[in-house]
Amino acid sequence: MAKGKGSIFFCQECGYESVKWLGQCPTCKAWNSFVEEPVLGKKTGNHKMTRGIEIEPVCLSKISMEKEERLDTKIKELNRVLGGGIVSGSLVLVGGDPGIGKSTLLLQVCRNLAEEKKVLYISGEESLKQIKLRADRVGKFSDNLLLLCETNLNSIQSAIEKVSPDVVIIDSIQTMYNEEVASAPGSVSQVRETTGILMQIAKGMGIAIFIVGHVTKEGVVAGPRVLEHMVDTVLYFEGDRHASYRILRGVKNRFGSTNEIGVFEMRENGLEEVENPSEYMLNGKPKGASGSVVTCAMEGTRPLLLEIQALVCRTNFGIPRRTTAGTDYNRVNLLMAVLEKRMGFQLGDCDAYVNITGGMKMNEPSMDLGIVLALISSYKDKAIPDNAIIFGEVGLSGEVRGVNMAEQRILEAQKMGFEICVLPKVTKEGIRQKTQMQLIGVENLREAVKWVLGGK
Ligand code: TYD
Ligand code: MG
Repeated sequence: MAKGKGSIFFCQECGYESVKWLGQCPTCKAWNSFVEEPVLGKKTGNHKMTRGIEIEPVCLSKISMEKEERLDTKIKELNRVLGGGIVSGSLVLVGGDPGIGKSTLLLQVCRNLAEEKKVLYISGEESLKQIKLRADRVGKFSDNLLLLCETNLNSIQSAIEKVSPDVVIIDSIQTMYNEEVASAPGSVSQVRETTGILMQIAKGMGIAIFIVGHVTKEGVVAGPRVLEHMVDTVLYFEGDRHASYRILRGVKNRFGSTNEIGVFEMRENGLEEVENPSEYMLNGKPKGASGSVVTCAMEGTRPLLLEIQALVCRTNFGIPRRTTAGTDYNRVNLLMAVLEKRMGFQLGDCDAYVNITGGMKMNEPSMDLGIVLALISSYKDKAIPDNAIIFGEVGLSGEVRGVNMAEQRILEAQKMGFEICVLPKVTKEGIRQKTQMQLIGVENLREAVKWVLGGK
């Protein structure tokens, strides 16, 4: 590669800058992540968006909190993740795999906002016709929504100034470029520069800007991590391509908690909110089948009932196979080792498969007891009652350890019609709330297994 004067090397993973190429990044330790980018012609510190901001320090008591403007997106699941709606002047990054539904979600947000507010949707990826096709599937739009197909940031800036909308959508940041930066769109310096300018537009004009960011194979927004530092809110849209549900997760939020998730389902006419995810996840659970357990995991502050399925069968080869879908492979191996050592089950010559149904990915320790009992239930071919839910963390000595937020979990299970709850003994003792559920506190695996096998 010809080394131009003033070129610089960036780590694509973390944004580390170096004057020479390095095989391994000294900060994030990624290999072969350096790319060369020219920095010719870049005029630093010369952005136009500094108009009329008076600088005057104020004390905390003088800051008025009455008028916290939040725009209602009319999508409850999204409002929840944003912390109550869109804050004016904020920059929100929406990341996710290609085809997961980012553009669809934002178009739906546009539709709802355009009923009262002025919205500008700028696409660098699709033509106006393509947007129209999608919009026809999603619903009726008011004329307050304006569309623009553009990738040059200077033109975008003038358009925003001319239209002065309340909300702007940039789809996607990787297609935008600033003429003053010599490198190609999507490169580290372009992404960083364009985000910086959008940030100034958002703050300077008090408009909310949503930017769409593509995700790399490793699951981070392409471009440097600095992008995440620069914006106010980072939301990730994730889900299994083959399952229709999608989860919107707050990773960073300067205006709310990051403990919230929004659940959606992709339908033929756009994304639909799923208000009761537990019901959705348990849909189609077999009755009286061995190896099937319902557990309650927490997604932030939200309890979610999930079905764990396990299949244990004799192996045909010398080395037993262990496969997991939706949960941590090593954790399942660990739990199987605990079962062998502490309970004397001969699992060494068995294949084991563990699956969280619905395509959900969950690694909470409170699912341990559910996984263990699903394995035993399948191994002994003894079904666990359909009206029972099970949660608890399992330690290496076979002890069942306490979990937090037990009351919420029990309440959710009760709402869904469950009657028995197997939980850690210490957790049961800490429960103050009255419940109609039958609570079975277990101290160790032996007690839990005894409950499954009925004293056999
Ligand atoms: P899209 O919003 O284009 O994804 P992204 O912007 O994240 O790349 O999502 C497109 C996918 O969603 C596409 O595979 C088709 C599907 N889809 C539906 O199933 N129903 C719909 O109503 C729409 C608009 C899209
Ligand atoms: Mg898109």
